[in-house]
Amino acid sequence: MDKNPNQPEGTASRRSFLGKSLTVGAGVAGAGLLAGKLPAFAQVGGSGITNGDVAILRFLAAAEIIESDLWQQYNELGGIPDSEVPGGHAIPAYVTALQVLDLDMPQYIHDNTEDEVSHFTFLNNYLASKGADPVDLKRFGNLPSSKATGAQHKGRLTNLMQLTVDTSYWTRYRSRTQNPDLGGTFPPAIPDLSKGKFPAIPRSDDDLVGSTAKKPSDHLQAIANTAGFHFGFIEQGGSSLYPSLAQRVTNPEVLRILLSIGPTETSHFQTWHDKAGNAKPLTVSINGQTLNFPDLTTASTGQDLKSNLIMPEPTFFLSRKFPPVSIIRPTETEGAAMGAVKALTDDGLFIGQPPAFFAFLQDLAEAADGARSGR
Ligand SMILES: [Fe+2]
Ligand SMILES: [Fe+2]
Repeated sequence: MDKNPNQPEGTASRRSFLGKSLTVGAGVAGAGLLAGKLPAFAQVGGSGITNGDVAILRFLAAAEIIESDLWQQYNELGGIPDSEVPGGHAIPAYVTALQVLDLDMPQYIHDNTEDEVSHFTFLNNYLASKGADPVDLKRFGNLPSSKATGAQHKGRLTNLMQLTVDTSYWTRYRSRTQNPDLGGTFPPAIPDLSKGKFPAIPRSDDDLVGSTAKKPSDHLQAIANTAGFHFGFIEQGGSSLYPSLAQRVTNPEVLRILLSIGPTETSHFQTWHDKAGNAKPLTVSINGQTLNFPDLTTASTGQDLKSNLIMPEPTFFLSRKFPPVSIIRPTETEGAAMGAVKALTDDGLFIGQPPAFFAFLQDLAEAADGARSGR
């Protein structure tokens, strides 16, 4: 895999949990680094949880805070800002463009946002209940907001205005012969999204020029289409991350937490996977970059792309000696947390974040990847 321009020097490039498998050395170095920050826990038994369990929960809390930050931005401009998910004022033309994918998009965006906030809030509260440090990323919330009318002007953890969206999840879940855990590679559904840096929310009111509340321009529609595919990218990542890390958990209650949150990520993914296929076919130029959305609904598109094939196709799992089975993919546990950091970095979400941010995330990820079930 080529080095992604969004990945800063010095950040790990391990196996991408969203795509293909890479050979990984045991990620235990960071566990030592971080051990000093963790309370000395009783080992399994009673209400104690292991240091490994704490590390996994802390990494997941960080991932959920990151998810919440990006979903909050989508909800402000394209969802339903209300008392449950406060902040911002939706932009009518952007909402209309999102509704080309499904009329209920604003409700789904709102509900996905609320879910992510509940995930990190629960994880942090659970950590505190065990005497462990909750995760706080507020000091890194300094990235710029959209300048479009309706956005809140406050610091953000994530960037949604220069995204490089990997849409290979689309073909990965349609393949009947390949599995990323067995070395499979998958072409993107929207190749242009992998090449440039594209906005998924209006960056300013300039992105609304030529649009009305009833009829978005192709330019604004392309921004909404990008969001539609980005939603699927984010949530399929969570669908893999939880089962991957669950294999390293020791305490049964912590396992229950991972097994109960993880499938809600899959529930989100399934919804977005379905909606993205309705993205309006078009070609635009944004910042001199061509962005084409092909028509994925047509019969001629073929089995690996066709929009209504949203159920995970059976494919090989564990070994090719077994019959194909419908599964979440990948679920390899080795390097899963570092893979998640790499995938989110490659996505462009962290453009503008300082080295201290990447160092902090990397420490959390290495500690999570260093956890060992039963120890
Ligand atoms: Fe989540
Ligand atoms: Fe999620």
